[in-house]
Amino acid sequence: MNSVLIQNGRIITATDDYVGDILIRDGVIETIGRNLPAENAEIHDATDLLVFPGGIDAHVHMETPMGNGVYTCDTFESGTISAAFGGTTTIIDFAQQFHDDSPKAALDRRLAAAAPQCCVDYAFHVILTDVNPSSLGELPDLINNDGVSSFKLYMAYPGVLMVDDAAIFKTMRKAGSHGGMALLHAENGLVIQALIEEALEEGNTSPKFHQMTRPSLMEGEAAHRVIRIAELAEVPVYIVHLSAEEALAAVVEARDRGIHAFAETCPHYLFLDHSEYDRPDFEAAKYVMTPPLRDHHCQHALWRGLRFDDLQLVATDHCPFCFNENPLGILKSKQYGRENFNKIPNGAPGVELRLTLLYDGGVRTGRINLNRFVQLTATAPAKMFGLFPRKGAIAPGSDADLVLFDPNATHRISASNHHSLVDYSLFEGREVTGKVQKVFLRGRCIVDGEQWLGKPGMGEYLPRKASGRVL
Ligand code: URP
Ligand code: ZN
Repeated sequence: MNSVLIQNGRIITATDDYVGDILIRDGVIETIGRNLPAENAEIHDATDLLVFPGGIDAHVHMETPMGNGVYTCDTFESGTISAAFGGTTTIIDFAQQFHDDSPKAALDRRLAAAAPQCCVDYAFHVILTDVNPSSLGELPDLINNDGVSSFKLYMAYPGVLMVDDAAIFKTMRKAGSHGGMALLHAENGLVIQALIEEALEEGNTSPKFHQMTRPSLMEGEAAHRVIRIAELAEVPVYIVHLSAEEALAAVVEARDRGIHAFAETCPHYLFLDHSEYDRPDFEAAKYVMTPPLRDHHCQHALWRGLRFDDLQLVATDHCPFCFNENPLGILKSKQYGRENFNKIPNGAPGVELRLTLLYDGGVRTGRINLNRFVQLTATAPAKMFGLFPRKGAIAPGSDADLVLFDPNATHRISASNHHSLVDYSLFEGREVTGKVQKVFLRGRCIVDGEQWLGKPGMGEYLPRKASGRVL
C-alpha cells in the first residue's frame, strides 16, 4: 500500500482553516489529524504553507480546432503540464459536435486524443452545434452512461457555431430532465455580425475593432434572453466567461427571483480592461478573446459578484494561440488575422495563472477570503459539474489532489518561465505574491518547485454526475 503524509500544513477548504496532517493511502485521503504517525510514508513538510484542494478549471480548450485549419497551440500534454504547475489537477475541456455529427462520436474523438496525453484528471462538456432529434436523443445516454452532464451552446458566431433559441430551449428541456445542464456562450451573434460587417466595410480591420464590434450590451441581452428561456424550461442554466456588467445584472436579477442561473468569470476580466486594445503594432491581438475585455468599471461589478455568490466560479477559458507565427506555424498564431480582426483566432492563455492571480489580486487585496478562494477555484466547480466530493474537497475518501502553496513567495509572471507552448502572457511582467510549491494528483507528487514529476497519460477521465444541482 502506498502512503504519503503531508505534515503540518494550514489546511484550507471552502469552510475550514486549521493546521494539521493529511495521510494519503493509494491516492485517497485516509485521515486528517494532528501528529499522525509516519508509518513508512513518503513525507512532505508543509510547515508555513497553505494546503488547498487541487484546482478545477471548468473551461479550457486544448488542441481545439477553430475552423479553417486553425488550432489552439497547447496539446493535452503541454496544456495539462501547464495546468499542474498552476495548481490545477482537473480540467474540463470540450468535445465539439460538428454538423451532421454525433455528440457521442465527438466525445469519443476527444477521449482518444486526451487519454495518452493528459497529465491531470480530465472531463468534457459536449458542444452541440447541430441540435436535431437524433443528437438530442443521445443526451440521456451521454449523461447516464458517459458521464457528460453539461452541454455548451453558442448564441454567437452565426453560420459556424450559433444555434437558435428553439434549439437552446429543446436542449435545456432534454438535458435538464436527465440531470444535465446547458452552458451558454451568451452574446447576440446576429447583431455582432452586423457590426463586424459595418466595421469591415468602413475599412476598420485592426484588432481594436474586435472589442468595438462586441458590445457589452449584446452580452447582457443574450444573458437575459437565455435565462428567460431556462426559466420557461424550468432548468438550471450556466453562462460561461461572463465579462459584462449588463450580463451580470441579468444573472443577479434572476437569482434574486430564485431562478437557478449560474455563471463563471475569468481572470482576464477581473484584472485587465479594454485599454489593452490600444497597444500598437498588432500587439492588441494578444488580447483578442471573446467576450472582449471590458470597461474598467465592469471589474468592480465582477468582484462584487464573486464575493456575494452571483458568480459561482472562476475558470480560465484557456484558449491559447501564439503571437508569433514561428515555430508552431500560422495556423496556431494570432498572425492568421494580421490583415483582418475578424480572422484573429479568438482566445487567450491562462491555465497556469488562475490560482496565483486570484490569490494575489483577490485574497491579498481583501476582495475575497481564503475559503471563498477555494470555493471559487475547486469546490464550486466540483459541485457544479458533478465531481464532488471526489474532487474539490480535502476530506477522508476524497482524491488526494492537493496544492501546497507558499503565500509569501514573490515572483514575476512571464511567458519565459511558464509551461504552456504559447509564446506570450496576458500578464507579462506582473509581480505577484503567492506561488504553487508542490502539487499532488491522487497522492502522487507531480510538481515539486520547478521540477516536473508527472507523465503523459497519468490523468484519468472523470465521468461526472448531474450538473447544476448540488451547490
Ligand atoms: O475567445 C474565446 N473565448 N475563444 C474560445 C471560443 C469561444 O468564443 O468560446
Ligand atoms: Zn471558451
